[in-house]
This record gives sequence, C-alpha cells and structure tokens, in this order.
Amino acid sequence: MGRVDFIRPPYVNTTRVPGDRYRLLGVSGNGPLNDRYIALEGGDGSGKTTLSSALAARLRADGNEVVEVREPGGTPLGERVRELLLDSDHVDPWAEVFLFAAQRAQLVREVVAPALERGAWVISDRTYYSSIAYQGRARGMGEEKVREINETGLEGVEPGRVFVLDVDPGMGLGRQHRPDRIGSESVEFQEAVMGAYRDLAVAEPGRVLLLDGGEPVEALVDQVMEALGR
Ligand code: TYD
Repeated sequence: MGRVDFIRPPYVNTTRVPGDRYRLLGVSGNGPLNDRYIALEGGDGSGKTTLSSALAARLRADGNEVVEVREPGGTPLGERVRELLLDSDHVDPWAEVFLFAAQRAQLVREVVAPALERGAWVISDRTYYSSIAYQGRARGMGEEKVREINETGLEGVEPGRVFVLDVDPGMGLGRQHRPDRIGSESVEFQEAVMGAYRDLAVAEPGRVLLLDGGEPVEALVDQVMEALGR
C-alpha cells in the first residue's frame, strides 16, 4: 500500500508538496479527529498493559471497534526494531531516539491512521510521549528535540488524549517480570521519567492526564471514560 492511500479526507486534509510527499494540513494533536487515539503512558511496570485490555473491553462493550497496539512494536518491522532496541548490549543514545521514532512512523502509517480513518478507536500502550520522557528527559537528549524528531515522522497522526499511570518508580521496577535493557535502568532514571510525565501533564492539561496507578483497574477505566466524555 502506498503511504498516501489512507491519508486523505475526511480523516485529514492533504496537499501535495515537492518530492511527492504529502503534508498534512489542519491536523493538531488536540483536534477532534484524533480523540479516538488514546495513549497510555507511565514508567516501567506501571500497569499500562492491564489498563489497555480493560479499557478496550469497555469500549467494545459499547459497540466500538478497538485496535490495541504497543510501542515499540505493533508491525512486523516494528517488532524487529523492538528486539534491536531492547535486547542489544550497546545502543547509542541518538540511535535509540531514531529507532523508537522509526518504528513509530511505521506503526502510525500501517495501523493507526487506517484504523482511525475507518472509525475505530486506537489504544496505544506507549506513544512518542514515552520518547519525550525516556530519551528526551531521562537520557538527556532534550525534550523539544525528541518531540520534533517524532512529530516529523508522525505527520499529525498523534494521540488526542494521553493518560499517564503515576506510580512510585521503585514499586514499578519491582513489578517487572523480566526487565529489558531500558527497564533495567536505575530508580533515578525512572524518577526522571516520571518527573517528565508530571511536567507534561502541567504543560498540556487538555491532553495529558495523570492517573493514580495504585487504584484498581476498573476505577481507572471509569476515570478514563469520564475524561473521554463517555
Ligand atoms: P514496554 O514494552 O512498554 O515495557 P514496560 O511494560 O516495562 O513498560 O516498553 C519497553 C521499554 O522501552 C520501556 O522500558 C520503555 C522504553 N521506551 C522508551 O525508552 N522510549 C519509547 O519511545 C518507548 C515507546 C519505550
């Protein structure tokens, strides 16, 4: 499938620009068109995956189509990049930034945008907000720079709502079954990640919402549904 097949009205407005690329116009991360694209974020072992299944079940019970994806991964290419990212011994910090951004561009084009276009909901276990927190803040690569790199590849296909599970970093680390390369970072690293998420919630109050990760999953689903106005 050509990359432009699904990038057309009414999902987004497009215009052709030199080099046979399509630039998306009139799309903002907070625009109503992306309100069905939900990001679940948090530190390692924060319970995002459990919340994703429970939220998907609730939305499906209301008769919606729901597509669940995870990052890194979610496409054949993305799953291979996931292995490179999480199982390699040494990954240069900029290589890390670009590999996360690469698997993400593939995922939004191959899975997320087509799903949104046909009216489905998309629940994503991590999005580029993870890159801002992990690579931008905790790795020290710069939050604005990491945001910019990712937004370039996303071309406007961004989550309208970002829910962050706020858990004590020490507790989250203890909850992991088999920590991967990044999940094995120190408590200080995890604290920096959580600090970045908390700052994002303050900076983007209409989009990023903190949830208390210590609450039962059904209570969290209630809060998400309320925030979504459902
Ligand atoms: P994930 O599979 O969600 O692990 P967990 O269930 O432990 O949260 O994510 C794998 C790791 O990759 C996790 O440590 C977070 C990290 N990560 C980043 O550093 N940047 C990113 O952009 C993403 C998507 C994940």
